[in-house]
Amino acid sequence: MRDLFAAEEGDALPLAPGAVLLRDFALAAAPELLLAVVGVTAEAPWRHLETPGGFGMSVAMTNCGALGWVSDRTGYRYDATDPLRGKPWPALPDAFREMAHDAAAAAGYGGFVPDACLVNRYEPGARLSLHQDRDEHDYGAPIVSVSLGLPVTFLFGGAARVDKSRRVSLVHGDVVVWGGPSRLHHHAVLPLADGEHPATGRCRINLTFRKAG
Ligand code: SIN
Ligand code: FE2
Repeated sequence: MRDLFAAEEGDALPLAPGAVLLRDFALAAAPELLLAVVGVTAEAPWRHLETPGGFGMSVAMTNCGALGWVSDRTGYRYDATDPLRGKPWPALPDAFREMAHDAAAAAGYGGFVPDACLVNRYEPGARLSLHQDRDEHDYGAPIVSVSLGLPVTFLFGGAARVDKSRRVSLVHGDVVVWGGPSRLHHHAVLPLADGEHPATGRCRINLTFRKAG
């Protein structure tokens, strides 16, 4: 249940200049998006990537689109080939492309054409520490992040690592878009609390769309 005094359905909640939370923007499309996730992961399975420092990430990941984000002992990069299978990533499903485009437009970024979608799966306890999305070549394009399944606490900070963060709860169907002046702002995902969601079961799925190439 949403807090009585929280943003109304369909609201756009500013998080920082250039960054906005679009409540429920992906709610209607969620079943179609989740079906597409099943298709993507049947081809390119979930995996826990290794960080350059040698730790296994708690979030399980895969990708679709022309480029995919990967991490290993040599660093972070976008790769046209899935290193696990030695093949290209699955194509970006039409429902993904449309959602990314429409959410970006609703946030004021017209003409967004993503070439990469990082698909994240959080199980209870999984988290993402404070980071910037800066492996993309094109900072002119925004990041579009779609939340599905279990709720989580998202921190949206500033350009500097030490800047104060906004703390927001992201629930099934919420979309966050950041670009322009906040394109390189730091963000983090707190450990997922245990629970069961009718759409995803015991996990949260996040889609982040990028123009990487
Ligand atoms: C990310 O920063 O790549 C993912 C953000 C999220 O899971 O909400
Ligand atoms: Fe990120």
